Formats: sequence, C-alpha cells, structure tokens
Amino acid sequence: MHDVLPSSPIDTAAFRRLMAQFATGVCVVSAEADDGRIVGITVNSFVSVSLEPLLVAWSLQNSSSQFDLWSQTQQFAISILAEGQQDLAQRHASRKRTDLDADEFSRSERGLPVIDGALGHLECRQWSLYPAGDHTLVFGEVMGIHQTVAGRPLGFFGGAFCRIAE
Ligand SMILES: Cc1cc2nc3c(=O)[nH]c(=O)nc-3n(C[C@H](O)[C@H](O)[C@H](O)COP(=O)(O)O)c2cc1C
Repeated sequence: MHDVLPSSPIDTAAFRRLMAQFATGVCVVSAEADDGRIVGITVNSFVSVSLEPLLVAWSLQNSSSQFDLWSQTQQFAISILAEGQQDLAQRHASRKRTDLDADEFSRSERGLPVIDGALGHLECRQWSLYPAGDHTLVFGEVMGIHQTVAGRPLGFFGGAFCRIAE
C-alpha cells in the first residue's frame, strides 16, 4: 500500500496544479453572433452531461471579454479538435481574436459554423445557464451529431497542448 501524500493546503494554486494533471481534449465553440460575425472560442471544459435529454456543457469565465457574446448566443456548435489543430486552438484562445477566418469553417446542416478538419461536431441550442462561482456553466441541448474525420484528438495536459498516445 502506498503512503497517502500529505494534502496541499486548499489554495487556488494547488487546485490549478492538480487540475492541470487532468488531461482533456480541446474544442472550439463557434456561432454566428447577432451582428453576423462568425466567432469561436477555444475551451477544454467541455463535458457530456445527460443522455435524456441529450445535454453537454462548457464553463465560461465570467470575466471574459466574450462573456456577453457566449451567454447570449442561443445556438452554437462544438467542434472536437484533431491533433494537427493546435495553431487554430491557440488563435481562438486569444483576447483579440474571436472571429473565425473563412477558410477555418464550413456550415453545418443547421447553418452553424463548424471547424474544418475537426474530428466531429455537435450542433446545440442553449438549454440553460448555471452560475458557478467565477464561471457560468453553459448547457447545450444537442440537436445534431456529426463525426467528420477519423483521427487522433488534440490534447491539453499540464497547461500545454499535447498528443494523446495510442
Ligand atoms: C486549452 C484552452 C482551454 C480553454 N478553456 C476555456 C474554457 O473552458 N472556458 C473559458 O471561458 N475560456 C477558456 N479558455 C480561454 C479562452 O479560449 C479565451 O482565451 C478567453 O476566453 C479570452 O478571454 P478574454 O477575451 O477575456 O481574454 C481556454 C484556453 C485554452 C488555451
């Protein structure tokens, strides 16, 4: 039996250090904004929530300059990025950069912008918002499911993009 490691004091740095050990995939949430702009944000808080109804969620930082945009968006797509899409993920994780380039996306069946070359995407309508501390959980009801490319996912681990080994 292993000794139990002494637990760190509860502080945000310890929390962040440990959570960084939880490897995730990387997604881009995308939508057509009310003013017609096609926008996207890189997230790794995406989670599958419920089968009946079919729900997913992601966590939106309340202090984000994009908070109003994403909390008001009634329909959005979530694209699961492939391992070659690190540069795209980085571009849409930037404060200055919300608009998608024309060569980065196509239109889904329901007309939502979805990321080209991603492993697949979900089409969602906003189901609810749930305040959660300094973040807001954005729940989406899944309207469409599309697996587009067979391949490996882009990963995020230890605060950096990574490959997920076979
Ligand atoms: C791998 C990765 C995952 C991220 N996940 C989230 C997320 O789940 N929720 C979120 O609000 N921002 C997330 N971000 C940050 C956003 O992509 C973006 O940088 C931020 O919302 C910009 O906010 P600002 O305009 O206030 O600077 C993530 C960034 C990276 C690089």
